[in-house]
Amino acid sequence: MANFPGRFQLRSTQSAQQSKALRAARKMHIYSASTTPGDRNYTQRSAAGLVVGLINKASSSQEMDATAEASSGEGARHAHGAKDDRPEKKVPLLGMFRYADRLDMLLMVVGSLGAVGNGVSEPLISVLFGDVINSFGESTTSTVLRAVTKVVLNFIYLGIGTTVAAFLQVACWTMAGERQSARIRSLYLKSVLRQDIAFFDTEMTTGEAVSRMSSDTVIIQDALGEKAGKLVQLASAFFGGFIIAFTKGWLLTLVMLTSLPLIAIAGAVSAQLLTRVSSKRLTSYSDAADTVEQTIGSIRTVVSFNGEKKAIEMYNKFIKNAYKTVVEEGIVNGFGMGSVFCILFSSYGLAFWYGGKLIIDKGYTGGKVLTILFAVLTGATSLGNATPSISAIAEGQSAAYRLFETIERKPEIDSDDTSGMIMENIKGDVELKDVCFRYPARPGQLILDGLSLQVASGTTMAIVGESGSGKSTVVSLVERFYDPQAGEVLIDGVNIKNLNLDWIRGKIGLVSQEPLLFMTSIKDNIIYGKEEATLEEIKRAAELANAANFIDKLPNVRK
Ligand SMILES: Nc1ncnc2c1ncn2[C@@H]1O[C@H](COP(=O)(O)OP(=O)(O)OP(=O)(O)O)[C@@H](O)[C@H]1O
Ligand SMILES: [Mg+2]
Repeated sequence: MANFPGRFQLRSTQSAQQSKALRAARKMHIYSASTTPGDRNYTQRSAAGLVVGLINKASSSQEMDATAEASSGEGARHAHGAKDDRPEKKVPLLGMFRYADRLDMLLMVVGSLGAVGNGVSEPLISVLFGDVINSFGESTTSTVLRAVTKVVLNFIYLGIGTTVAAFLQVACWTMAGERQSARIRSLYLKSVLRQDIAFFDTEMTTGEAVSRMSSDTVIIQDALGEKAGKLVQLASAFFGGFIIAFTKGWLLTLVMLTSLPLIAIAGAVSAQLLTRVSSKRLTSYSDAADTVEQTIGSIRTVVSFNGEKKAIEMYNKFIKNAYKTVVEEGIVNGFGMGSVFCILFSSYGLAFWYGGKLIIDKGYTGGKVLTILFAVLTGATSLGNATPSISAIAEGQSAAYRLFETIERKPEIDSDDTSGMIMENIKGDVELKDVCFRYPARPGQLILDGLSLQVASGTTMAIVGESGSGKSTVVSLVERFYDPQAGEVLIDGVNIKNLNLDWIRGKIGLVSQEPLLFMTSIKDNIIYGKEEATLEEIKRAAELANAANFIDKLPNVRK
């Protein structure tokens, strides 16, 4: 029956923390006027793990949770206590449902009705228990079966009602959550692919985009679906329980409520202690993991310094620390759970004793006392059980903030933008006029300072210069990966900002400094640039890119 389960939950999620590393200077001297770098490697994502431990210590009515977070970076390592120093940004609660359509709303309304029914059924059962007790008490051996049968039927009705309600709750909320998160996923990908290169330089590395897609969308799906439904259910059980208890007998309810603060205090104290201990444990574990990662990651260096023993010693030290804290954690946890149950069981005693007095003084029945007791317990337990749902929804709000921020970001150079000029007969004169340019990721460094050059159609130009002098940058500007801060880039005398972006990129052929092949045949790779290309055109493109000889020498050439 309504007991207070002590629960301990440890969850660790992986998120990514980046550190940027400047790419090494590369040697490259000569370009034709139509080459550009595939400079995506500029930002390197360093392998770094972030361990987030969420400890939910369910202590009866008051389920406390605490987040202990230990994060590790390459070289730098931080360990936080329960609180993060940066407050995490969130969308408002209802803002999470921003991408719901009409059907989702309908599903959520029906799901909520189901959840209310499902929630209220829990305290309602305590009313039926009370009725059963009364019918036992009031009847004699000859009448007991008839009296009880009447009440028993109500159990069956309630059972059927709850089945329908629970079905509606879970089915509708899950469907609504899945539909919305699928929509968010596809909008997110669409929006990421629409962003300009500056966005990937400054705000997001490829790794982060992928991890957000896989982790944040799952978090938000959970929050929007099951957990939201569960919260409605538990809130209904909470209110239902206390409304039933107060209407059946407010005096006994009030007396029972006096024990709740004690339980809450016991729960809070042990949760507080637990948080402190477990954040220490997480730090030790993450330090230990770092040691292994760094040792194995640079095994050649470690071996050359005979550092294996030292690594093992360090690892053992961290593991020992973790062990110590786990023992402490066990003691605190056990003490917390024990004291909560002690207070709880004593409060049962108080309730029955005072209930007995009320039977004498105020004409309560035994059934009524039992109903009130269980109704209060159900209400209080629901409040405690709501914590995981509340934290899942809060996490969902943060995940939604991160995803929606990207979804709603309008890039300055927008590849979806269909406006802009399309020239009927493009000749291909390229001109740069007094161009000044700095990369958004390094605003302090001026790369091009008033550069002017002209490449007439049909001519070839080689730009020669030291590594890092800005040759590839010129090509990036012609492709309009970036816009210059001053001056203009012209094609056939028209500023490329006024040209249709999709169209002009389609007109430019590019063999980049770091050629990149997708995992398919060379023919398919070339076709990505022009879907309806004929075999002749493909061959011609390969020749123009100086790749034909090399391709022909490959074994298994398919014609
Ligand atoms: N995406 C970027 N963000 C910030 N700085 C960048 C970026 N790409 C290049 N740079 C910097 O801009 C400068 C010019 O780079 P660019 O790639 O144009 O040189 P390059 O002349 O093509 O050199 P290489 O001969 O090595 O190819 C370099 O200092 C480089 O570090
Ligand atoms: Mg280059």
